[in-house]
Amino acid sequence: MQEFLRNLPKVELHLHIEGSLEPELMFALAQRNGIELPYTTVQEAKDAYHFNDLQGFLNLYFQGMSVLRNEEDFYDLAMDYFKRARGEGVVHIDMHFDPQAHLQRGVPLEVVMAGLLKAKQEAEEGLDLSIGMIMAFLRDRPAEEALHVLEQAAPYWKMLDAIGLDSAEQNNPPEKFVEVFKRAKQLGLVRVAHAGEEGPAEYIKEALDVLDVQRIDHGVRCLESDEVVERLRSQQVVLTVCPLSNVSLKVVEDLRDHPLPKLLAEGLKVTISSDDPAYFGGGMLTNHIACAEAFGWDEAVFRQLTRNAIEEAFTTQQRREELL
Ligand code: ADE
Ligand code: ZN
Repeated sequence: MQEFLRNLPKVELHLHIEGSLEPELMFALAQRNGIELPYTTVQEAKDAYHFNDLQGFLNLYFQGMSVLRNEEDFYDLAMDYFKRARGEGVVHIDMHFDPQAHLQRGVPLEVVMAGLLKAKQEAEEGLDLSIGMIMAFLRDRPAEEALHVLEQAAPYWKMLDAIGLDSAEQNNPPEKFVEVFKRAKQLGLVRVAHAGEEGPAEYIKEALDVLDVQRIDHGVRCLESDEVVERLRSQQVVLTVCPLSNVSLKVVEDLRDHPLPKLLAEGLKVTISSDDPAYFGGGMLTNHIACAEAFGWDEAVFRQLTRNAIEEAFTTQQRREELL
């Protein structure tokens, strides 16, 4: 099964590129940029990656990305992940990135975009990997700030596949961002949002109704509402489920308790992603193997999940057909 999963051409719809920053690269970039880290060794950093909830993780996630300052840092970050993912048999990645987290530290949007777009271009030309770009907004920051960043991103609108919504979910309902998402729709941009990770099923419904999103990132708490499950099933809205992330952030106690099998049994359009692989114990292959072990899934289940992801990937029809 491990060999099958390694060779399966995998498609990742939910990946925060800043969450792919491995401690080794974090240390190298800290040194290059003269930035002090709160850890003295790679092992010390890894030992700190134990979280009680989403906020506990986000604190370290924002701290970790403080080493990213220049274009080449963003390029190195993305290339490092693209090469690692390709080595695990990944063929497409839809990549979230968080411009506000960099703007706040005085890193211009142009620097972030130049580094990420260069890595995307090289990966697409040289690694047989296609990359989608999702500009995400931090839901625990003001909506006005997000709207300002969306306008500031005008030179890049045509290079974006979608806008997203991430960071601390509880008490930051989708509705808060209605104007931002309305504007994105007006610009012809696709919308996705994290919902039902730590927040209630109601937020999933709200993301669909108020933000008009095409995808729900996570969505695992949909099972708390029959109405929301029916909605997701009837419209076949894709859920980008991140099993090891959910275990790390204590959305579930143990992978064997994860609702993935139930989501499948409900006829939902489920996919598997890694979310923040450097922090949650591994990338796409590790997530797939963990699911095989926890749920006893056969090859047919993984083929179906991959087909779901290919159909929803932000890429060309030609590439989708190539991957199917
Ligand atoms: N940003 C990075 N990872 C995230 C997650 N799992 N949930 C919300 N925001 C995030
Ligand atoms: Zn996420």
